Amino acid sequence: MELKGLILSGGTGTRLRPITHTSAKQLVPVANKPVLFYGIEALRDAGITDIGIIVGDTAPEIEAAVGDGERWGVDITYIPQEAPLGLAHAVLTAEPFLSDSSFVMYLGDNLLREGISGLVETFQQSGPDALILLQEVPNPEAYGVAECEGNTVVRLVEKPAQPKSNLALVGIYMFTPAIHECTRAIKPSARGELEITDAIQCLIDEGKRVEPHVVEGWWKDTGKLEDMLEANRLILDALEGEIKGTVEDSEIHGRVIIAEGAHISHCTIRGPVVIGERTIVHDSYIGPYTSIDADVDIRNSEIEHSIILAQSKVMDLGGRMEGSLIGKNVRIVRLDHKPQAFRFMVGDNSWIGIV
Ligand code: TTP
Repeated sequence: MELKGLILSGGTGTRLRPITHTSAKQLVPVANKPVLFYGIEALRDAGITDIGIIVGDTAPEIEAAVGDGERWGVDITYIPQEAPLGLAHAVLTAEPFLSDSSFVMYLGDNLLREGISGLVETFQQSGPDALILLQEVPNPEAYGVAECEGNTVVRLVEKPAQPKSNLALVGIYMFTPAIHECTRAIKPSARGELEITDAIQCLIDEGKRVEPHVVEGWWKDTGKLEDMLEANRLILDALEGEIKGTVEDSEIHGRVIIAEGAHISHCTIRGPVVIGERTIVHDSYIGPYTSIDADVDIRNSEIEHSIILAQSKVMDLGGRMEGSLIGKNVRIVRLDHKPQAFRFMVGDNSWIGIV
């Protein structure tokens, strides 16, 4: 049977402020590609072409970036969610789109190394009412946690104080239409959301079969800065180098992508690194695990293990920047005039470390 896809791209993204004050967290690029695009590609690669995307306040931006899906050979339907009232609320909102199809639900800020093709096959062959992805984590109390008996999930608990297992729910789920009865039946949790863990627990309580699948490769939820940088590191680790832009009097080591129109002069670049279209890097060192997006200008600076979004400028830094996420159109410059002082214009919830 044809599966549909449901990608969740609403939400508020509070943990990635200030970046998410002005843009959707699902569009923050990892290795210069929006996180959301990896999800669309994972569904497409598993043969799923009818995809609904749940959108909230950032709908116009998401729609502008994704379009109708033609670029991937898929059909995209946008499904507005009145407010981010929980993952199960998103399923409830999407019920008219999903109708009587089974579906894969994919959180739009998640990345899964192994893709989902194998899982879709398992789901279709084994025929459970739900298949949930799990991963062993060192701090299960921070996640939805599953307790399993053999090949069956027997209980789910959201952020338990005393977890009974170290198996956390990964943001990818497969459901038959049986889930709809449960998303309609459950009540909001203490934090006021319709929880997907409660909806799945409802399936279990109704005697439906919920199967676990423990993820072997890496999985990342990019909702926080450290996770975003880690995802960037993992994706860059698997990229092949390719130089399309121009390189002048520079040393390039390891796997480095330099996009069309980019210009690198008097630099040392140590991959894995990706540099976007029309970006200029001059008199600088760019170290491993750095993604620099399009139309960025970097002069006389050292940058490592960081993500820099489009149109930003970093000039004469005088020290090395690392572990940083720099938003769009940001300027970091050295001032020559007196008094010599730091000068900041920084948005709410920003974070600056100085040495
Ligand atoms: P979360 O990361 O759990 O929530 P959030 O986006 O509100 O972020 P934060 O906790 O930092 O405030 O959401 C996971 C994904 O699901 C993310 O891509 C946003 C999306 N989502 C919806 O589309 N609708 C919702 O009601 C919720 C809660 C999340």
